[in-house]
Amino acid sequence: MRSVIDVLDLSTQELDELIATANDIIDNPEKYQDACKRKKLATLFFEPSTRTRMSFEAAMYELGGHVISMSSAGASSAAKGESVADTAKTVSCYADIIAMRHPKEGAALVAAKAAKIPVINAGDGGHCHPTQTLADLLTIYREKGSFNNLTIGLCGDLKFGRTVHSLINAMSRYDNIKFVLISPEELKVPSYVKKDVLQVKRIPYIQTTDLEEAMPELDILYMTRVQRERFFNEEDYLRLKDSYILTPEKLRNAKPDLSIMHPLPRVNEISVAIDDDPRACYFKQVLNGKYMRMALILKLLKEAGTI
Ligand code: NCD
Repeated sequence: MRSVIDVLDLSTQELDELIATANDIIDNPEKYQDACKRKKLATLFFEPSTRTRMSFEAAMYELGGHVISMSSAGASSAAKGESVADTAKTVSCYADIIAMRHPKEGAALVAAKAAKIPVINAGDGGHCHPTQTLADLLTIYREKGSFNNLTIGLCGDLKFGRTVHSLINAMSRYDNIKFVLISPEELKVPSYVKKDVLQVKRIPYIQTTDLEEAMPELDILYMTRVQRERFFNEEDYLRLKDSYILTPEKLRNAKPDLSIMHPLPRVNEISVAIDDDPRACYFKQVLNGKYMRMALILKLLKEAGTI
């Protein structure tokens, strides 16, 4: 059974196909309105979410399908000690596809091994978040027209930010990509990502703490929230949470066609004064996420022979 746990589970050709499907859904939504008629998506969210969960749900409804879910992790049998594997086996009896978010790294993989239906990882701890990357990729494609020849600044919590890890994985497959990794010392990209992805693929990158110095060369600036829920102590969080706040002044030396991205939710990282700047793309990412999730649900249900 085909599941998507990591963005690398999808080949570059498959990413291109998903983008083509999403663009077609944007242009011809009526063509897809019954594509998953009477099929069921189960959303299993063991961590808070607004966009990811609601966009999966909206995606399934717009494909003509239904959604079942648990009201919260605390209200499910996980609170009684049920394992992720048993929950996944159980839900396989009720639904056709699962979208799962869990605080533990690797939980989605465990669910996928146990489930009889496709599982989509909607975020596993500080590890990865492939469908946010699908949203990011469609946004980059629609803004830049290509995935090649880009200098990408990733700024904020690069240690715990799972969206950052997945985006690095995905963009490392394209030509002439350079990363500028902007973070406090304590929140640098984990060494496994640098070793297994950036170094293996010989992708040029620099690490810096200085956002303004990096600004002029960036084609994309991907801001992130400091991931409070992954910190061991609140003092460290409080010290680091406002390390980077993007304001109009800090954009003074930015390229006129910079794309400013953020997976959201934002806390303080981007001043609301930037929201009306034509370079702000974060609410476009939200919408693009729904279309890419529609494309992914369609693909996995077709491959499973469900539709
Ligand atoms: C992200 C996440 O959950 O990792 N949110 C999202 O899905 N758009 C980013 C975050 O929580 O900071």
